[in-house]
Amino acid sequence: MKLNIAVLPGDGIGPEVTAQAVKVLKAIAMEFGHVFTFNKALVGASAIDKTGNPLPEETISICEKADAILFGAIGSAKYDMDPDAKIRPEQGLLGLRKSLDLFANIRPVIAYEDLLNMSSLKIKQIRDTNILIYRELNGGLYFGEKKLTNDNASDICEYSRFEIERIAHLAFKAAQSRKGKLTLVDKANALASSRLWRKVVKELATQYPNVKLNFMYIDNAARELIINPRQFDVILTENMFGDILSEEASVIVGSIGLLGSASINDKHAMFEPIHGANDEFKNKGVANPIASILSAAMLLDHFGLDIEAALVRKAVDKSLKLHITTPDLNMKYDNISTTKVGDFIEDFINNPEETNLNFKNIHLGQSTII
Ligand code: IPM
Ligand code: MN
Repeated sequence: MKLNIAVLPGDGIGPEVTAQAVKVLKAIAMEFGHVFTFNKALVGASAIDKTGNPLPEETISICEKADAILFGAIGSAKYDMDPDAKIRPEQGLLGLRKSLDLFANIRPVIAYEDLLNMSSLKIKQIRDTNILIYRELNGGLYFGEKKLTNDNASDICEYSRFEIERIAHLAFKAAQSRKGKLTLVDKANALASSRLWRKVVKELATQYPNVKLNFMYIDNAARELIINPRQFDVILTENMFGDILSEEASVIVGSIGLLGSASINDKHAMFEPIHGANDEFKNKGVANPIASILSAAMLLDHFGLDIEAALVRKAVDKSLKLHITTPDLNMKYDNISTTKVGDFIEDFINNPEETNLNFKNIHLGQSTII
């Protein structure tokens, strides 16, 4: 298969983790005879520094032409403390989501058996968690009309039936192919927009008789997610609730450095870790590349490359099992760098049989893997 992939490393740890995902995709291309081409483009604070614009025209055009986009991370401490800044790195990511109409953000939350003790939650509560979050990505508070004066501010939360229906269909279909359960998370007891979500999703449910639909308020869902995450199969929710809930869900998995995501519509697809740019960890070799690598696996899934995606996931599982992990996971060996984790996964893809021999050298700092 030929794929033209736009690579937007972005800010902070984005470039280091994205480099590992690209390495992994190159190994897959080599192993399976695919032709993947990679086109880099600027976004976020690094784009502001170079062009004054967090989302240069050229970046949009590279992304529009690409089959898929691999996105790193965005944000910079420099802008966080200035509420009056007119130009912000996040406009790069939000602008891209909006201009490509990437309305469905899919965030898998899977508790790895080998990492159960990494979570601050109790093992017996989180074991076997497997949730797919469908976060609406182009509406709600993020994109409603905004006003900000010295004494007054507002963000409008608006949703149309069309916006709700298109993502709800995807979530229902996902539930059909999984355990058949869909939970709509909203705040219908307080918000009009949530009441429309409930109404529309309830109506659509008649088209999916084999999916069991239930409803949960966001405040309750935030609690249920960590006390009994196994009750969830597919969660459907609006933009802001999905942002918060998915970050909370990363506690179940043990590190936010493990969660990848896909943002899709029927024309475009972007793959990105759910974590941020974390400037303070930049270029220290401590950033976990797994979220980016698992986002690359979702890219492969998206194009029906199931065997390839499964091999990437197998390599990731192996790295976790062998404790070839960055310090966020605080495992037995905590000195494995971002690049070394990527090297291990690349090497496993190249020769799954022999990798066990090489990993011993990694722990001795004498990796034979280049
Ligand atoms: C995410 C991020 C973004 C969001 C930020 C960087 C604007 O937190 O992808 O979860 O809120 O969507
Ligand atoms: Mn977030």
